[in-house]
Amino acid sequence: MGLKIGMLTSGGDCQGLNSAMRGVAKRLYEHDKDVEIIGFLDGYAGLMFRNFRQMSIDDFSGILTIGGTILGTSRQSFKTMHDPLFSNQKDGPTKLEAMIQTYEELHLDCLVILGGNGSHKTANLLSEKGLNIISLPKTIDNDLWGTDMTFGFQSAVNIATEVIDGIHSTALSHGRAFIVEIMGHKVGWMTLHAGIAGGADVILIPEIPYDPMSVAAAVNRRAREHKRFSIIAIAEGAKTKEEAKMSKSDYQEKIEKSPLTSVAYRLASVLDKLSIQEVRCVVPGHFQRGGTPSAYDRVLTTALGVEAADMILDKKFGRMVGIVNGKVVGIPLKEVAGKLKSVPLDHYLVADARKTGIFFGDEQLDYV
Ligand code: F6P
Repeated sequence: MGLKIGMLTSGGDCQGLNSAMRGVAKRLYEHDKDVEIIGFLDGYAGLMFRNFRQMSIDDFSGILTIGGTILGTSRQSFKTMHDPLFSNQKDGPTKLEAMIQTYEELHLDCLVILGGNGSHKTANLLSEKGLNIISLPKTIDNDLWGTDMTFGFQSAVNIATEVIDGIHSTALSHGRAFIVEIMGHKVGWMTLHAGIAGGADVILIPEIPYDPMSVAAAVNRRAREHKRFSIIAIAEGAKTKEEAKMSKSDYQEKIEKSPLTSVAYRLASVLDKLSIQEVRCVVPGHFQRGGTPSAYDRVLTTALGVEAADMILDKKFGRMVGIVNGKVVGIPLKEVAGKLKSVPLDHYLVADARKTGIFFGDEQLDYV
């Protein structure tokens, strides 16, 4: 009897999920047509509630360029999911037990999980319970420990860069300061890359808390030097120096009380008073996660998918397939789970950006 593989996509979607599943499936079917693939719908909920689809070889054709995920996904964290109660039971199994039961009752040989940070914690729990797990690193945030690159990141950076590119002409026409808010959750990878690629004048990322007065000073200094506009790329998770000192709960309270919906608008409310130029905000939001994967992500996901399939064939389970120093490798799930990959303060791109005059908001600038 051939292999029986389960697959699920979990967490926020991104470009490259379909092409990664295609990579796994094509390699497996190429090895032996007698492979059965079960696609669980809407992430771990599908595994827990036995909501799945029998996939066929045709399901994996024509999806290389399609964004999103053909299986559906969910960002609900494991912690906030309820224990399932099936109609014939008084006391239902725990979430983990239900997932394990599904795996066992379907007699799966392996479960392939495509997910980001939160999803990898659950993947590791399942692996520790003895399930054969292989995972793939998806997220536009590039914040997964153990891989130099996650898929979705490059596609999203391309979109964020196009947003900054597009803003240049209107900023120039009107002589305005524009704040472009870029996704990335708690880390600044996307903003750092798109900010450099788009020629932003100021880059603000969570890893480097900023002083709003100094940002205003940088914008004004440019205006006085007859630069007609300034572009500030700010990560959605960026914090001021003051906010960075706050406890998590105090910061949360501040955000909840603020009528301003995001960091860009909070910074704009300060710059409005201090900047000598008009200030405008652009928040591309989920647009950054949408659309077709870039050529880079199609190549990356195909390579990762093929390696994942080879690991299944070699029975090398309990690993995430990632890319380290240009090589596709398997990293033990326990090394990945629960760890965040932030931008190191001494990262060469931060240093290079500073050397080209990009301001990170951390140095004290005199307000003019
Ligand atoms: O993790 C991907 C991501 O797009 C983050 O950049 C962002 O903070 C978050 O997901 C948005 O999540 P949601 O889709 O739940 O609004």
